[in-house]
Amino acid sequence: KNIVILISGRGSNMEAIVRACKQENWPAKIAAVISNRADAAGLSFAQAQGIPTAVVEHRQFADRVQFDQALMRVIDQFSPAVVVLAGFMRILTPAFVAHYADRLLNIHPSLLPAFPGLHTHERALEAGVRVHGATVHFVTADLDHGPIIAQAVVPVMPDDEATTLAARILMLEHQMYPAAVRWFIEGRLQRVDNRVVLLPRDT
Ligand code: GRF
Repeated sequence: KNIVILISGRGSNMEAIVRACKQENWPAKIAAVISNRADAAGLSFAQAQGIPTAVVEHRQFADRVQFDQALMRVIDQFSPAVVVLAGFMRILTPAFVAHYADRLLNIHPSLLPAFPGLHTHERALEAGVRVHGATVHFVTADLDHGPIIAQAVVPVMPDDEATTLAARILMLEHQMYPAAVRWFIEGRLQRVDNRVVLLPRDT
């Protein structure tokens, strides 16, 4: 099964998924890492691992619809069983989301449905929440609102700043996201209406 990962920057979640796929011998391979920015730092890690990479620069397209169409063409060359958004910072059109329905995953750095959108850690601190975290979910046309696959929770400390809180959460993202992608690959995620049920592993 082919996994295609989309990034826009650092790519540390992508890296965690690549490492887990290899170390745990998933019945899958990372077929490509694709970025909307040529300067995404994660691209060089992927290249060093021998993973095909591609850049589809959103700035080269007149609008979201055309960018998404070009992106879909590149992604589909790799026949993905699943498309994994890992710090991919573009809002996707309904046509894109529909094309990858039920095989499009995202990680969002908050406990959804709290704090959808950007600057989640700053907003969590401002709101004074005592716990914060990250969510892996299926992507639907409603931004940051798809069915939830997994969540990880961290405490908010009295002296936290956005950077310290982000770092605490990122460590858990690196465990949670590979686990969730693996569940998908193993066919263990069953959607029941807006909920996701984790099926037991085949034995
Ligand atoms: C992560 O915090 C992820 O939750 C969010 O963007 C960040 C990406 O980091 N969607 P990286 O590129 O995976 O290092």
